[in-house]
Amino acid sequence: MALRYIRQIGEEVLTRKCREVTEMTPRIRELIEDMLETMYEANGVGLAAPQVGVLKRIVVIDVTGEDPHILINPRIVEQSGEQTGQEGCLSVPGKSGQVTRPNYVKVAALDADMRECELEGTELLARAICHELDHLEGQLYVDKVEGPLQDVNNEEAD
Ligand code: NI
Repeated sequence: MALRYIRQIGEEVLTRKCREVTEMTPRIRELIEDMLETMYEANGVGLAAPQVGVLKRIVVIDVTGEDPHILINPRIVEQSGEQTGQEGCLSVPGKSGQVTRPNYVKVAALDADMRECELEGTELLARAICHELDHLEGQLYVDKVEGPLQDVNNEEAD
């Protein structure tokens, strides 16, 4: 495993729509392992492949530090409610901003063995899922922020 460089806002790769994964390969397995390691090392709760420069529909999420989720070709199949709260991103270091998201989402995806899986979550997990899936569309939370971006210390970010 290896740490990967986290792309920063302003880099074009963060604005591109990602491609579906059609088969698992050793190279993609390595990418996923590296994404997890990179996310944990950066104290993030989620990371999307374009954030390490790879335009594939892969995200990793772990909002507790001991419950990693790997989502390949994820899509939201249910959502409800609304939450408004502070959000950050490892690609936008030192900033946070207020974003409104669904309070509950259910996502259908493939796992690391390319088996169908589902993940549902509320609150922070729902927020992280929405945030990471946006990355796959080339969208950053800063385009959805309500009010100004704020300066923060190095807290958890996704
Ligand atoms: Ni992000």
